[in-house]
Amino acid sequence: MTFSLTRSIRFCAAHRLFNPAWSDEENFRVFGKCSLPGGHGHTYLLTVTVSGPLDPHSGMIINVATLRDILRREVFDLLDHRDLNHDVPFLQGLVPTMENIAQKLAERLQPVFAAHQLTLTRLSLAESDHHYVTIDLP
Ligand code: NI
Repeated sequence: MTFSLTRSIRFCAAHRLFNPAWSDEENFRVFGKCSLPGGHGHTYLLTVTVSGPLDPHSGMIINVATLRDILRREVFDLLDHRDLNHDVPFLQGLVPTMENIAQKLAERLQPVFAAHQLTLTRLSLAESDHHYVTIDLP
């Protein structure tokens, strides 16, 4: 029997969808207003699902407070109120789309959860109430 546990965390951050290899016109054609120089902000919602064996002594796969603390340390403390184009070392050189941010967060969180004998099975990142991306991990 496999158990999963899901937890979310919110953070606020700014970004600009802009590929420096392209002209301003090409960026506007692809990214629209999201490419304008002033950037803009989102309240992001990251949701992660981890799975693992049930500890028969605790009756849990991981204490939800531990999961909360991992997300605070690995995500919130690094991304909240940051400029995602410039302030976050592990996002450097990327257009900070939801997809790219989600991929980097998945890569960052996988070994952290593995150290707790957990597998990151799904990660979703929303930048509004209306759209989000999901990564399903094997
Ligand atoms: Ni945006």
